[in-house]
Amino acid sequence: MDTKQGILGYFEKNRGKSISGSELAKSLNVSRNAVWKAVKALQGEGYKITARTNQGYTMSPETDILSEESIRKYLLPEMGAVKFSIHGALTSTNDAAKKLAAAGEPEWHIVIASHQTHGRGRRGRSFYSPDGTGLYMSVLLRPRLDAESSLMITTCAAAAAAAAIEAVTSRAASIKWVNDVFLGDKKVCGILTEASVGLESGGLEYAVLGIGINILPPDEGFPRELEDIAGALFTRRDYKPDDSSRLTALILNRLWEYYNGLNNGSYNVFFEEYKKRSMVIGKNVTVIENEKQTAAFAEDIDEKCRLHVVYEDGTRAALSSGEVSLGKDGRNK
Ligand code: BTN
Repeated sequence: MDTKQGILGYFEKNRGKSISGSELAKSLNVSRNAVWKAVKALQGEGYKITARTNQGYTMSPETDILSEESIRKYLLPEMGAVKFSIHGALTSTNDAAKKLAAAGEPEWHIVIASHQTHGRGRRGRSFYSPDGTGLYMSVLLRPRLDAESSLMITTCAAAAAAAAIEAVTSRAASIKWVNDVFLGDKKVCGILTEASVGLESGGLEYAVLGIGINILPPDEGFPRELEDIAGALFTRRDYKPDDSSRLTALILNRLWEYYNGLNNGSYNVFFEEYKKRSMVIGKNVTVIENEKQTAAFAEDIDEKCRLHVVYEDGTRAALSSGEVSLGKDGRNK
């Protein structure tokens, strides 16, 4: 860790409090001049840090820059070894994480961008990823799971994201099977897991779990085609500095617990959390498979997060992947 990162870690844990230059220098084992230089560099990056004679340095609690240090202060202590790569613009954080995977990077490397030029959604769709108003994050995982259980990486991420969203917004978050998170009737979060299967082993080489969240409404509003379906976690008025960092850490904390449980064969740790948030159980839905849309009734979700549906001709199915929309005619959400 370099001096600047060390100092930022200190400031993040002591937002709004003054810390003396000598205290920083001593704890990081560097000179006071090195501290001053690092503070200057941070100020140049937009950190609101004031320096007062005899009082030391203070980082304003209004500072709102997502960084490894701003996230780490909320992370579980056992997550010390996870790695972060935080970027401005990327084509897609999933692409960047896949490159890391191909280069042999171990699991739990987390890629975050403030903007994606080619954000990807499920079923070949794009994911609208404007600058500065969303969280675009991919987690590189190397699960020891068979093909069927690996489908649950997505469901455990949906449960983790929904719980974190609820904690930071204090609003009830629900899940539209399989992995869309809603606040009220608006989708606020989408998840796309992309995996690579080893040709020889037949098992998963890696999985890249991509999570996209609309934290604030985009400056220019949502594009027309998303206006009726997409929403954001906060309005500009109720968003507080540091909410993005806390949200990111809370998702990762839950994901750590749920994914490790899944990988150790105990997927039950997130099943209840997932099922209780379902917005499709007991509803008429339209099952979308490839280009085909079929009206059905969603009866239940089982422990493998499969959706049990009854089609209008009376036949039943347990769906483990795919997409449903609410309502019989497939026109709603
Ligand atoms: C969907 O709703 O269809 C899934 C959207 C997934 C978006 C996230 S944003 C981070 C990661 N990078 C991508 O290109 N996509 C995922």
